[in-house]
Amino acid sequence: MNDTPDALFILSSAYSKRFEAYLSKLCGSMPEKIPARLAEAMSYSLTAGGKRLRPALCMAVSERCGISPELVLPMAAAIEMIHTASLIHDDLPCMDDDGLRRGRPSNHVVFGEGMAVLAGDALMIWSFGHALSGLLSNGLTAHSAALAAACLSEASGPAGMCGGQALDIDSAGGDPGGDFVWRIAETKTAALIRASVLSGAILGGADERAVSCYDSYGTHLGLAFQIADDILDVTGSAQDLGKTPNKDSAQEKMTYVSSYGLDGARRFAERESLMAAESLSPLFPEGDLLIDLAVSLGGRSR
Ligand code: IPE
Ligand code: IPE
Ligand code: MG
Ligand code: MG
Ligand code: MG
Repeated sequence: MNDTPDALFILSSAYSKRFEAYLSKLCGSMPEKIPARLAEAMSYSLTAGGKRLRPALCMAVSERCGISPELVLPMAAAIEMIHTASLIHDDLPCMDDDGLRRGRPSNHVVFGEGMAVLAGDALMIWSFGHALSGLLSNGLTAHSAALAAACLSEASGPAGMCGGQALDIDSAGGDPGGDFVWRIAETKTAALIRASVLSGAILGGADERAVSCYDSYGTHLGLAFQIADDILDVTGSAQDLGKTPNKDSAQEKMTYVSSYGLDGARRFAERESLMAAESLSPLFPEGDLLIDLAVSLGGRSR
């Protein structure tokens, strides 16, 4: 690893202070009605860090559309809640069975499987109410808040992340031909990354042309991100990743690496990165950090 700050680091640093402060406040003031152990399990994973790529994307895009990124914090937090919940469930013994996440013991290792299931459920469901009420009290219109929530629901539900996870756990020994591996990556990961970008554009009041550029950017960025995750599973260390490497081949998962080899996967990652960058160039002919992010993401090291 070199020490030069990359675009991902620069982007997440630009919003991390405000985002982490918002999350800590949220976790520190959970309603008393929530059973203490459940609240603890939810906060444990939510405040464990992570790259915070998705909330940073939502905030960055809203800012580029001309509104203060602070206004979309309830949406950014909702997205991170769903992402965190997906990781809690992903690590369960009945799914990927990983005991390490974000550099800490996974949720179920600390709280038990039942509580981990419920912490994930609770975060997913809470996210929508939190986003809607928070956006409205920040003065966003009911129309844009509802559109953004619908976008998040579609990306997280059966045709998005949950559906992709279903394909993923059924992928062992599957046919590596065709577009199956693309479908897994597109649904389990790219859909939520696309929704992070698109919700920022919707809440920022982007026009149709900009929404279409962000739409394409989000999908290609999300694909590059998951292909890089497949590569890092083979090339990364537990220390750098904060999760256990070499899980995919041990569990016979269908990934870009199992389908195309490391070099083939790298070519796909590069292609998706470039397509993401090209999607935004009409909006930012002079360049932008979001374009730099796309260019660097396919070859990311964390
Ligand atoms: C891991 O996501 C799961 C995937 C969808 C690839 P991240 O790599 O964004 O995990 P954190 O949030 O940084 O821990
Ligand atoms: C998980 O994909 C995607 C999710 C929706 C959580 P992976 O199973 O590859 O994610 P990691 O490698 O465990 O983070
Ligand atoms: Mg998985
Ligand atoms: Mg996993
Ligand atoms: Mg992985």
